[in-house]
Amino acid sequence: MASLPSLPKPISQNPHFPTKPAAHSHSLNVIPRKHSFSGHGLLNFQHGSFRARETRVIRSSNQTEAVPDYSIQVSDVPLLTCSEAIEKLKTYRENRHGKQQYLAMYSSIFGGITTDPAAMVIPIDDHMVHRGHGVFDTAAIRDGYLYELDQHLDRILRSASMAKIDIPFDRESIRRILIQTVSASKCKTGSLRYWLSTGPGDFQLSPSGCHQPALYAIVIQDLSPFNSKGIKVVTSSIPIKSPQFATMKSVNYLPNVLSKMEAEEEGAFAAIWLDRDGFIAEGPNMNVAFVTKEKELVMPQFDKILSGCTAKRVLVLAEGLVREGKLRGVRIENVTVEEGKKADEMMLIGSGILVRPVVQWDEQVIGDGKEGSLTQILLNLIIEDMKSGPPTVREPIPY
Ligand SMILES: Cc1ncc(COP(=O)(O)O)c(C=O)c1O
Repeated sequence: MASLPSLPKPISQNPHFPTKPAAHSHSLNVIPRKHSFSGHGLLNFQHGSFRARETRVIRSSNQTEAVPDYSIQVSDVPLLTCSEAIEKLKTYRENRHGKQQYLAMYSSIFGGITTDPAAMVIPIDDHMVHRGHGVFDTAAIRDGYLYELDQHLDRILRSASMAKIDIPFDRESIRRILIQTVSASKCKTGSLRYWLSTGPGDFQLSPSGCHQPALYAIVIQDLSPFNSKGIKVVTSSIPIKSPQFATMKSVNYLPNVLSKMEAEEEGAFAAIWLDRDGFIAEGPNMNVAFVTKEKELVMPQFDKILSGCTAKRVLVLAEGLVREGKLRGVRIENVTVEEGKKADEMMLIGSGILVRPVVQWDEQVIGDGKEGSLTQILLNLIIEDMKSGPPTVREPIPY
């Protein structure tokens, strides 16, 4: 009989699916009715799901020819105690070495800081996880200082207010917790990311069942040097968020992710959004700016896009270049695609990339196709600002 090529493999032959029952797994008939999990939605929910499948499979034994029978696989899924689940989480983290190292996490759920990546988890019934009701922000850590912490903190509080998320602590306490988390991480160079959410409670659409708002923060080590090589961008075909959502930094980054993926598929670094009137807006996690032929720095207004902390700092630093005569002026206004594409220089600006020269947008070469000299000067000014800027942008970490 001829064999059938490339049929999808059954789950049991999937290399990622455990084919042998774990020593402590249970057959369907012996799933204990009493379990040792304590009161958390996720684990009880999973247990409920096992029980439901168990009943269905046993009752429907005469239907197994009509519907796929997953009963064997279901019985292979181990039922874990809390300490076994934690052991699994530890093994998971130990076996996965990504490019980024997570050095510390704060969670208001456990009310403290952990440096064990296995414990860096958030509850599945947090409204941020299952409904996207959360906001976040970042701050770079350079040489033992947090860069623009207060500017980012102001923005996350603004975002929280727009997303109708109450804050779990006052601003000063959040600030203190963030600094302590970086201190506990011992990280000197990397980034701090933090989230405010409505918190855990239930799986409803309304946050009314959420007990109390939550704060999470993580410190990520990043020793890679800033890259000043020119990059290509494309115009995004993913619709831009409406101004109400684009101006707050919520966790709803699906359009941003799809936009980044679209760029990568086209061999580009980022995809640029145009606003609904066709003016240049922003990238998926960065702002955009231009140096015109008249040597003016031009940046789109912030009323329909995220108000970038780095972009705003660049505007301040650029004033110095105006005083030195290297720039003619600085303008914040609507920028047309035509104006942008015929500019001398184009740059992306954000806390992750700082200032990155763009040398090609779609098919259009920008300027002479080389990294712009004023873009490089602005990048150097930001790097210098991180190293030795004023106390308003540099918060020392007491290690
Ligand atoms: C959509 C969007 N625009 C702009 C930025 C740049 O902002 P910042 O310079 O504060 O990182 C970001 C970065 O988070 C972003 O996500």
